Amino acid sequence: MNYQIACIPGDGIGPEIVREARKTLDAVAARFGHTFTYTELLLGGAAIDRVGVPLPDETVSGAKSADAVLMGSIGGNTSTSPWYQLPPQLRPEAGLLGIRKALGLFANLRPAFLYKELAGACPLKDNLIEGGFDILIMRELTGGLYFGERNTVTENGIRKATDTLVYDENEIRRIAIKGFEIARKRRKKVTSVDKANVLDSSRLWRAVVNEVAKDYLDIELDHMLVDNAAMQLVRDPKQFDVVLTENMFGDILSDEASMITGSIGMLPSASLNETAFGLYEPSHGSAPDIAGMNKANPIATILSASMLLRYSLNLQTEADALDQAVEKVLQDGYRTGDIFSEGCQKVGTDEMGTLIAERI
Ligand code: IPM
Ligand code: MG
Repeated sequence: MNYQIACIPGDGIGPEIVREARKTLDAVAARFGHTFTYTELLLGGAAIDRVGVPLPDETVSGAKSADAVLMGSIGGNTSTSPWYQLPPQLRPEAGLLGIRKALGLFANLRPAFLYKELAGACPLKDNLIEGGFDILIMRELTGGLYFGERNTVTENGIRKATDTLVYDENEIRRIAIKGFEIARKRRKKVTSVDKANVLDSSRLWRAVVNEVAKDYLDIELDHMLVDNAAMQLVRDPKQFDVVLTENMFGDILSDEASMITGSIGMLPSASLNETAFGLYEPSHGSAPDIAGMNKANPIATILSASMLLRYSLNLQTEADALDQAVEKVLQDGYRTGDIFSEGCQKVGTDEMGTLIAERI
């Protein structure tokens, strides 16, 4: 089959990790007899530099006409990059939030899985991670604090900033349904994370999740306050299967979850709308400090490419082959710097991509 994949290399390490992910997709195409046709789209700082805005219209239309989008990362050093002298709506991150909204990508899946080969890189004690863990963070991606009204004013000489956290029941219901559906294909457990002891938006979240749960009596549901969830993730990560949560809590908890897998360089993500269409990107940022140095770990992006095969192209065998190639490369002892440990062989970004491609 022939598939159109839109690529957004973006900023920082983005271009090098997308290049390696494409290398592995090409190996999948060669082995399984597919053709992937790539188009390149501008987003974030790269778009600001070329056309003056972080999200050009052509990027939205180009993404919409593709079967799926593969993205690297966007943004620069917030203290030194000139992009952060621009008004907030013209900064790189505005492009990322804008494309999520424009494509209706409300469901963000972030799997945090402990490879046994990387157990040594996990900062938790051995007894806490024995047997590994396999968590799927289901983060709401187009609502909440990220998209509510915000402003900064000066009143009587005092500067005042406001951000608003808004959810309506439909936004909560559709992500809850996605969470329960995916739990059904996994270990049938949903932990819904909120701050219902303080926030109205969380009380509505909890009420709607409970309503949706009535259609999923085969799924075990519990509710957890976000501060407790942050603690439980490092106290007993094995208790979690699907973690269902709102936008900002999911942003924070997914970084925490990534760290206990050994490195944030391992965590992929899929952002989906109501259809099979999605945008796939690593959960990590653009790491401007190591950009272009061939040091970045491309595995999160390669695993994102695997999620693209699985969710948008419905190519399960191909996705399995890519996942297994990643596992094999770890078994064979190859590591980028972020996951390196004694006795392994340290490799750069491009070599890691090639080694994975060779194992498909
Ligand atoms: C992420 C990132 C983004 C977010 C930033 C770059 C706006 O941290 O994808 O987790 O907060 O969603
Ligand atoms: Mg984040």
